[in-house]
Amino acid sequence: MTHDKADIGVYGLGTMGSALALNLAESGFRVAVTNREVDWIPAFVEKAGALAPLLVPVNTLAEFVTALKPPRTILFMIPSGAPMDAMIDAVLPLLESGDTIIDGGNADFNDTRRRFARLEGTGAHFVGMGVSGGAEGARRGPSMMVGGSAHSWTQLKPMVEAIAAKFNGDPCVDHLGPDGAGHFVKTVHNAIEYADMQMIAEVYGILRDSAGWDAPRIGRLFEGWQKGPLSSYLIEVSAAALQTTDPETGQAMVDVILDRAGQKGTGRWTIIEALKMGQSANTIEAAVGARGWSSEKEARQTAEPLLTAGALDAKVPPPQDLEMALLAARILAHAQGFRLLAAASEEFDWSLDLARISEIWRAGCIIRSALLDDFAQALRRDLPAGHLILSPAIAAMLGQAVPSLRRTVAAGALLGAPLPALAAALAWYDSMRHARGTANLIQAQRDFFGAHGFARTDKEGKFNADWPDLA
Ligand code: 6PG
Repeated sequence: MTHDKADIGVYGLGTMGSALALNLAESGFRVAVTNREVDWIPAFVEKAGALAPLLVPVNTLAEFVTALKPPRTILFMIPSGAPMDAMIDAVLPLLESGDTIIDGGNADFNDTRRRFARLEGTGAHFVGMGVSGGAEGARRGPSMMVGGSAHSWTQLKPMVEAIAAKFNGDPCVDHLGPDGAGHFVKTVHNAIEYADMQMIAEVYGILRDSAGWDAPRIGRLFEGWQKGPLSSYLIEVSAAALQTTDPETGQAMVDVILDRAGQKGTGRWTIIEALKMGQSANTIEAAVGARGWSSEKEARQTAEPLLTAGALDAKVPPPQDLEMALLAARILAHAQGFRLLAAASEEFDWSLDLARISEIWRAGCIIRSALLDDFAQALRRDLPAGHLILSPAIAAMLGQAVPSLRRTVAAGALLGAPLPALAAALAWYDSMRHARGTANLIQAQRDFFGAHGFARTDKEGKFNADWPDLA
């Protein structure tokens, strides 16, 4: 009977899938659940406790589809890439017109666009949905970025709005555009996450290596910053991590963790897409690059005694300067992310609402911070030249904070403390503030050796100069 059928199906009971299934059940939805390894299913239902009556455990894909109310809503929480294509092959013959399948993983938005196009004309719909907030977010309230058809959104909306994080009652989820829009926005979210994490780590690094502070002391400083303009989930996490002790050795936990960062691809994809669109997001690139250099541990060990041109005489800036430096760089990294979103919106004809994106990032997601509400307000107004940093409110914040960023980057350079993302943010700010840049020389060089031509400042047209012959 239809009323016994489930409102939604969740396939994939890994960390994120099981947390979302329980969140949906807690919001009163009946959830069909299944998993490739079926022996996970009874254990999951048993652990669900009071929520178990709202779960409909099934073992096969056919039973799973049959267990759902039509038009069906099926959320796949499985590894992105080939497994998703295999899953579409398997499920598509079982679907009916109006059914929606959702990929809730961190998929490459190019794959999402391809899959969306593949389902067009089948009657079934494909949604790419970015889910942010980690396991805890998925269970208690994630931020979700939905890309797909209006039909799918009508189906999904009540459920995702119920389970989403709320910012002053506003659910942190929305339909952002068609095909790959949701996954692209999630990818850029992650890239901003990479930049923010890197910049926090850089400040930690200068305090540890150049000022000699131990981890708990830095953690306490960061904890204090939670009360100011840097208030954010990532500062909170960093403060707590730095103050955690390793039970085995009694040392700070971070001191026994190898300095080699992993990455699954979203940061790199962002840079690839930025470059394809003729954009640059150098702060994000610096963060992705820093993870790359971090993995060359052996090379750095060899290099340390060899690369001897280290610290010159300089002082580590006081904590208030570091705090403001981080604030400036955080604003600049977000502004680069929003600029990419605007470029992609134009490129793929998505009509992304940047203010809404900022709003749904205010709670639940990993980059949630006090700043996102300021950004949302600024993005609701017309941005001069399409740049968040040119909004009067944001430009004023930068005006206050950039001198600290400048002092910090300068001190880092003198002290030999690597601050690649902070320095990149400052370089971008300085590039943007020069109405007359230096690309006139690039154009001259291009014309000199390749007769590529250049535009002139004083008249229309394309020109070549009569450059001297080199002896
Ligand atoms: C989130 C996170 C989440 C995950 C990323 C990080 O928004 O909840 O971004 O998606 O932590 O996969 O990816 P890396 O492993 O590349 O750091």
